[in-house]
Amino acid sequence: MTSWQEMESKYYMSVVRRQPVVIVRGQGTMVWDESDKEYLDFTAGWAVNNLGHCHPAIVDAIRSQASTLMQTSNQFYTIPQLQLAEVLVEDSCLDKVFFSNSGAEANEGAVKLARKYGRRNRNGAHEVITAFNSFHGRTLAMVSATGQPHYQANWTPLPEGFVNVDYSDLEAIKGATNDKTCAVMLEPLQGEGGVNIPEEGYLQAVRDWCDENGLLLIFDEVQTGLGRLGTLWGHQAFNVEPDVMTLAKGLGGGVPIGAFLAKDHCAVLEPGDHGSTFGGNALTCAAANASTRFIVENDIPNRAKEMGNYLKQGLEALKDRHSFISDVRGMGLLLALEFGSEIAGKVVASCNDEGLLLNPVRPNAIRFMPPLTVNTQEIDAGLERLEHGILRAVAE
Ligand SMILES: Cc1ncc(COP(=O)(O)O)c(C=O)c1O
Repeated sequence: MTSWQEMESKYYMSVVRRQPVVIVRGQGTMVWDESDKEYLDFTAGWAVNNLGHCHPAIVDAIRSQASTLMQTSNQFYTIPQLQLAEVLVEDSCLDKVFFSNSGAEANEGAVKLARKYGRRNRNGAHEVITAFNSFHGRTLAMVSATGQPHYQANWTPLPEGFVNVDYSDLEAIKGATNDKTCAVMLEPLQGEGGVNIPEEGYLQAVRDWCDENGLLLIFDEVQTGLGRLGTLWGHQAFNVEPDVMTLAKGLGGGVPIGAFLAKDHCAVLEPGDHGSTFGGNALTCAAANASTRFIVENDIPNRAKEMGNYLKQGLEALKDRHSFISDVRGMGLLLALEFGSEIAGKVVASCNDEGLLLNPVRPNAIRFMPPLTVNTQEIDAGLERLEHGILRAVAE
């Protein structure tokens, strides 16, 4: 371990506070470190490996595509791109798609689309209302969109055109709407901001407000899409349709790909408006196509719902046993456990030792986002390791 840590500090920009674990391989819900220690991975690459590590459907698709065709420019048609476009459009309420390489880029594209829509339909309106505690990515514009001051402070002046308001507060959106507003961009459930569920009726009320005022409703489903909340798209859990939806993370099952999709009435981008060298490349699209079709054809979202309920029950039972656990929240397999004090870092460290990988989403909360293929035995084992880990952290 030490030599890899030394290499990291010598060669890599120290932008991430890493856990002291060097992961060398993975299979399903499990990963192994360089000394062959086994871990249950309840981080799943930050909600990316929705079918677990090295799922055969994805591995086979990558192998076969890698030996056939990996990259052409978007000057030409490629088949995996169109097959992926087909499954996403046919299985969603959206009509057209564009592929990017990451979630931040998907959101950038969605905002460009919204600005063009505003230019055409709302007299040049260009502002996008977003929420505090949201997370939309690390590009400069998405840092501006992300309503968390600590992500913004170092990068001023930030690109203009974003207004951050309280989440789950329709009045705040109403108050921020003016003749410059073209869209509202929200996560159906905030992930990185602490696993925050909106109040009942909020998303529908925002939908109605957007309809009344000619605004686009963009759902950032980078984290909630592809089954994570127990429905194929997170917005289906709330019965509210967006005009524009962005995806990444779980879309590629482990390869870097993002997407934004729009309904026909607002799919205003034209030749020359947008593009990407790698976006929609044959290799990543083949992986994403295999992963997405497996998720759809095997009703993985429903499995995520069942396993999510099972994990949540286990976490609730843990909360009943320990007074220092103050809250259990989330939907599907995007859950959080909150403590009465800021011990999340310590809990994650002691759970590493127990063989359970977790994410400290807030100083006082840990996030659970295992593969959607996790089973009850793995959840039971995870809960047992979690309880040991928490007790050790609390005793320190
Ligand atoms: C909701 C949401 N949007 C956007 C992003 C940014 O995605 P990426 O890191 O692929 O740029 C994330 C990443 O955590 C996210 O959770």
